[in-house]
Parts: sequence; structure tokens; C-alpha cells
Amino acid sequence: MAYDHNHLAMWNQWNQEGGPNYPHQKVIQFVFRNFPPAVRSQTRVLDLGCGSGVHCVFLASEGFQVTGTDISEVGIANTSQKLSKLGLHANLKVEAADVLDFRSDSFDLVICVGVYDCAGSEVTKISVDKLSTLMAPGGRGIFLFASNNDFRFKHQVLNIHGFLEKEVKAIFANSFDKVWIDRYVTTYQGGQIEQNDWLVTVENLLP
Ligand SMILES: C[S@@+](CC[C@H](N)C(=O)[O-])C[C@H]1O[C@@H](n2cnc3c(N)ncnc32)[C@H](O)[C@@H]1O
Repeated sequence: MAYDHNHLAMWNQWNQEGGPNYPHQKVIQFVFRNFPPAVRSQTRVLDLGCGSGVHCVFLASEGFQVTGTDISEVGIANTSQKLSKLGLHANLKVEAADVLDFRSDSFDLVICVGVYDCAGSEVTKISVDKLSTLMAPGGRGIFLFASNNDFRFKHQVLNIHGFLEKEVKAIFANSFDKVWIDRYVTTYQGGQIEQNDWLVTVENLLP
């Protein structure tokens, strides 16, 4: 469990604000393109680093079986409240990204948005190695996290780590049967701000 008290305090503070109101558009696209309505109720999803629950709510309202984990007890409490207000359910756990205490083949879909850049390179390597055993055959995953060209890394917003391409390649090498490493770049405010994320999607083949 590689984080200290200050790290946890910072992310509890961030979650006090309640997190984003809308799911990430790349998550919506990935989920809708790969998981048609008919399969959703049998699909077990892990939202790793779920924060205050925006993706847990999206996934539960689309009928998936949802598990959400995060180190922040504030985030987990917010997620639980949002779900119950809507009459939705998820299995929620306060747990670090490098712990992931689940049985093998527990998940058919893993999503992880804006977490590995908070957790850092070492935790990410351990986490991805664990996920490779937790994701079932035929499973898929989507990961978004900042690159070294991202404004949050360049300006040290929330102490995040910006991943180099060689780091990403090394972390995901030998992890899942198929791995695609893309960038998702968006420029805001007349070019002053560049959000430059890695968008890694993965798949395990059916036997
Ligand atoms: C930027 S927020 C993103 C939350 C959520 N995924 C979303 O899209 O709204 C980052 C989240 O990562 C969590 N986090 C930071 N370090 C972590 C770690 N080592 N293990 C698990 N979660 C962590 C924080 O508590 C926070 O909720």
C-alpha cells in the first residue's frame, strides 16, 4: 500500500467536492461499443479508483454488476450516497490500487480514469500486474492517465505523475493478451492548457 497520510488527505479533500457530474466520454464510447445492452447484467465491472462515483453510477444505471474501489473513504461514502439516491447498487470497498484483494477472473470489464497518475509508476505496475489475473478471459479494460506532456504534470497540479511512453509500454508489456496504447489530447483556453492523457485499452482473449 504505497501511499502516505498526506496523499490520502489530499484525495479525501478532492472528493469533498463531490467529483465530476458526468462520465468521461471515452468511457461511454468504450462501454457502448463493446458491451451491448443484452450482456450488461452478466458483466462484472471494476471501477478502480472510483472517486465519488460518477462512473459507478453510469455503469450501474446501464445494468452492469459494479464494484468500486478507492483509497478515499470520502469518495466511497459519496459513491454510496449517489447510488442509493437513485436506487442503484454497487459493491464498494476502501482499497488501494496496488492491493486489489479479489479472486482471479473476477471482472469482465475494468475501468480506471485519472487514478494511475495520482498513484504513481510503482503502484501502477503492481496494480496492472494484479489486474491481469483478475480480468476474466474475454474481458476488456480502459485506462486513462496523464502523460508527461499534460498540464497537470507540468504545473504539478495535485502532485500527479506524468507517464513517459516507455514507462507505459513497460508497465503494460506482458499484462493482457492485447494492449493498445493511444493518446487522448485536448487543448483548452486558446492553447494555454493541454490535457494529454494516455488512453490504454486492453483485452483478454477467450480460450
Ligand atoms: C482524479 S480522481 C478520479 C476519480 C474517478 N475515477 C473519476 O473519474 O471521477 C483520482 C482518484 O484516485 C484515488 N486514488 C489516489 N491514489 C490511489 C491509490 N493509490 N489507490 C486507489 N485510489 C487512489 C483518489 O482517492 C481519487 O478518488
